[in-house]
Amino acid sequence: MSTVPSTELRPDASTTEVLAQAARRRTFAVISHPDAGKSTLTEALALHARVIGQAGAVHGKAGRRGTVSDWMDMEKARGISITSAALQFEYRDAVVNLLDTPGHADFSEDTYRVLTAVDAAVMLIDAAKGLEAQTMKLFAVCRHRGIPVITVVNKWDRPGKDALELMDEVAERTGLTPTPLTWPVGISGDFRGVLDRRDGTYRRFTRTAGGATIAPEETLTPEAAEAREGIDWTRAVEENELLDATEADHDQQRFLDGETTPVIFASAVSNFGVGALLDVLVDLAPAPAPRPDAEGDLRPVEASFSAFVFKVQSGMDAAHRDRLAYIRIASGVFERGMVVTHATTGRPFATKYAQHVFGRERESVDTAYPGDVVGLVNANALHVGDTLYAGTKVTFPPLTTFAPEHFAVMRGKDTAKFKQFRRGVGQLGSEGVAQVLRSDRRGDQAPVLAVVGPMQFEVAAHRMAQEFGAPVELDHLPYQVAVRTDAASAPAVAAARGVEVFEREDGELLALFMDKWDLRSLQQRSPELTLEPMVAAQLS
Ligand code: G4P
Repeated sequence: MSTVPSTELRPDASTTEVLAQAARRRTFAVISHPDAGKSTLTEALALHARVIGQAGAVHGKAGRRGTVSDWMDMEKARGISITSAALQFEYRDAVVNLLDTPGHADFSEDTYRVLTAVDAAVMLIDAAKGLEAQTMKLFAVCRHRGIPVITVVNKWDRPGKDALELMDEVAERTGLTPTPLTWPVGISGDFRGVLDRRDGTYRRFTRTAGGATIAPEETLTPEAAEAREGIDWTRAVEENELLDATEADHDQQRFLDGETTPVIFASAVSNFGVGALLDVLVDLAPAPAPRPDAEGDLRPVEASFSAFVFKVQSGMDAAHRDRLAYIRIASGVFERGMVVTHATTGRPFATKYAQHVFGRERESVDTAYPGDVVGLVNANALHVGDTLYAGTKVTFPPLTTFAPEHFAVMRGKDTAKFKQFRRGVGQLGSEGVAQVLRSDRRGDQAPVLAVVGPMQFEVAAHRMAQEFGAPVELDHLPYQVAVRTDAASAPAVAAARGVEVFEREDGELLALFMDKWDLRSLQQRSPELTLEPMVAAQLS
């Protein structure tokens, strides 16, 4: 049954407006390994877009000014970011939405889920380290979703690898053809500027104190560049000729199809190449496109309002104990106060409190368009993957759940607190903090938490104690691999040695194995059994 609220889109004028607004949006996330410079780049992007006066005020780590992603005590203590939201700013004629991804090495499903809400990704690489483990895992999700990837080689101001060597590494490890848009003048450690491969000019950088303000750039002709930089310019030109011979030129369609990756060279800390990245985002990254619904039909961006929940988070503000559901708008206009329908329950949902959230900064949102992220406050009924719509009914497919790699039994320390324990477990499961698995054998008092990154365990334990008043202990289980099975195969799978079968909260049956060799050996012995891999975390 579909509800038609009074705020349903009027045709014509508003359709044109939605299309125009959607076309201006660029929604992306940065994928990188810890320490590659994501926080620094975020600051620099915001600085360029002039949201803030001086780099350092938006985002930061312990010891830096204005740490804003520290909602939880744990985050404060460690100086890391677990939570994620979106930074919105205008640049040229575009509205850029940068979705924050948790940066710690023990990253979690949250990081992956953010990638379900973006239209492009910036793969940030440390020039000295090349492609690192976490970058590759996140890249695997982008590839799985077909998200176009822009590559930024960062820290060129520090000694690192050779630029051509880095291009080979990107090509070999990601399968994408790198198409550099800029090429560094000066080896890593001596960053003078870049040769712009699109027009052959030289963009010369000027250093500013600590990169705290926008670094001025000067454009020089090739002749002037040679006179100024001598051998460094000649070398860049020669390398560029090598690139010209290897089909390394940007091709928009191949980029959108996920075959190539435009590359730029940068030094986020000195603010070099940051403006170029913004230009690349605006000029090349895709605007929000029609999104497939659960039936596979495309929901046009100009259709009536629709959005999906890609993240739910509570307990961010100890004083308020609020629960925020972050939605990414897929179609239509969002207007604060509109009543929309929650597709799962068919119930109306009033959007009285809607906010842009980035770290601790919250701002009311009155109007938002496809590509934008809105935090809905006190959204207790909303779960990760849920759809909201107005007007024409739509349900988007559930978000992918990622293959967990760590498992632990959770038990309440105080048996008198079982009610609180049960409530907390239900809540954490519905928010997607961890996948909650149950079996008759282990019983209701000892559910198993399954996670992508061990830090999810800490978050769960912390919240069980602080928020639900039910301190817990966790016993780690030796399993490493989870696969899907079904009711017909479950008894035979469970009978195999070293395997346990559980039911997840959404009814899915998961079989846990000690390692992939155990899994392979059962598959070989009993090929008739259903044992399907789960998505993404293990794609790399
Ligand atoms: P992350 O969010 O990806 O984890 O990385 P973050 O921005 O915190 O950067 C990690 C370290 O790398 C920081 O140094 C930062 O200053 C440095 N960095 C980032 N971009 C560049 C760059 O382009 N060139 C150079 N040379 N360094 C860069 P830190 O010593 O850990 O912290 P801080 O005391 O400098 O803030």
